[in-house]
Amino acid sequence: MTKKTLLDFACLALASCLLCPTVWANPAEDEIAAATRAMIEELGLRESATPARELPGWRRPAKVVAWLDRPEWLPTLQAAAPGVEIVPAASVEEATRAVADAQALLGFCEQEIFAQGPDLHWVQVYWSGVEDCVAHPGMLQGDKVLTNGQAIASPALAEHAIALMMALVRGLDAYHVNQLAGAWRDDVGLFNADFMELEGRTALVVGLGGIGTQTAKRAHGLGMRVIATRGSRREGPDYVDYVGLADETLELARQADVVINTTPLTDDTRGLFDAAFFKAMKPTAYFISVGRGASTVTDDLVAALRAGELAGAGLDVTDPEPLPDGHPLWTTPRVLISPHTAGRSDRTRERLLLLVRENLRRYVAGEPLLSVVDIQRGY
Ligand SMILES: NC(=O)c1ccc[n+]([C@@H]2O[C@H](COP(=O)([O-])OP(=O)(O)OC[C@H]3O[C@@H](n4cnc5c(N)ncnc54)[C@H](OP(=O)(O)O)[C@@H]3O)[C@@H](O)[C@H]2O)c1
Repeated sequence: MTKKTLLDFACLALASCLLCPTVWANPAEDEIAAATRAMIEELGLRESATPARELPGWRRPAKVVAWLDRPEWLPTLQAAAPGVEIVPAASVEEATRAVADAQALLGFCEQEIFAQGPDLHWVQVYWSGVEDCVAHPGMLQGDKVLTNGQAIASPALAEHAIALMMALVRGLDAYHVNQLAGAWRDDVGLFNADFMELEGRTALVVGLGGIGTQTAKRAHGLGMRVIATRGSRREGPDYVDYVGLADETLELARQADVVINTTPLTDDTRGLFDAAFFKAMKPTAYFISVGRGASTVTDDLVAALRAGELAGAGLDVTDPEPLPDGHPLWTTPRVLISPHTAGRSDRTRERLLLLVRENLRRYVAGEPLLSVVDIQRGY
């Protein structure tokens, strides 16, 4: 498991769980099914058009290797897959040793595991960003199917993006510096015009997927006009005023008061937010990023902030990660940084368990899977 995916998973693993006492201790099928249906509906989880049983290479699995960091997961998953041997593995080494005759792998995506698992057909990861996972040669061998945790942490991520935006437009970053020094100062170098009221302002969500849609919903709730881009189609909910494609990003950036990056890291999004992008932004606008750090050219962002080409930046993800001591981003004014933790919440883990359990049930029954990744596209 790479550092990035570990970080995403750590966000999930740290969260506590509301439904979990029910799901883990007393798995009542109808309650779980109702909670699963509600989650699919609320987060708009994608269902594959093709039933698993029609996928090349599918057969009812006899053995599944799964990363279960809590023993309570096992009976819950087992109930969804009667007659299937589920082997818990706490590390890549354990999974590698257990995988020889397994058909499915849950919670891991490592080349060394693929190399020892010739029968592996289905891989379910517990996080959303799969740029490292799809790069493994083993992922392309043997008609593998990959499903991810797309949108599972999206409510938390969206609230975090909004929190970064609101903190910046209210100047909380500047006041907090004084608070740490015990200084009651109303002069923090910001003028009235620097405190942007959000109602009626335009938010551009770059990457209107699971996280982007939840972010758009919240920005709309604040009275903002929301515009967005997507990678492959113009679909969006009613509260998004306009959905453009990637080639419109610069044009839409010119209209935006806040830009929020919620894209996956792909060949198309790597370095998307560069000097040209920041030049296109209004000098009063803010840049928020909760997708992946490498979508932003960090040196260009620092230069643009220092040149006054934008008003500030809220970053949950940076390039590099972790941001090293002495990096200029730490000391650039009007920058708020959180350490890739925007997915943490008291509910994320509950959703993850429901998703993994449901996909296991569907895979064993040969039904269409949820959140199937397009391996070529990378998300
Ligand atoms: N900060 C964290 O802790 C954290 C946690 C989880 C995830 N993430 C990151 O967030 C990313 C998004 O997660 P998600 O669950 O929202 O995934 P998702 O539901 O798959 O959404 C991705 C969206 O990005 C769009 N997109 C792809 N390429 C684009 C481009 N070049 N320009 C504009 N939009 C583009 C896609 O459009 P189409 O559907 O039209 O192709 C899709 O709407 C993940 O891949 C991961 O890197 C970060």
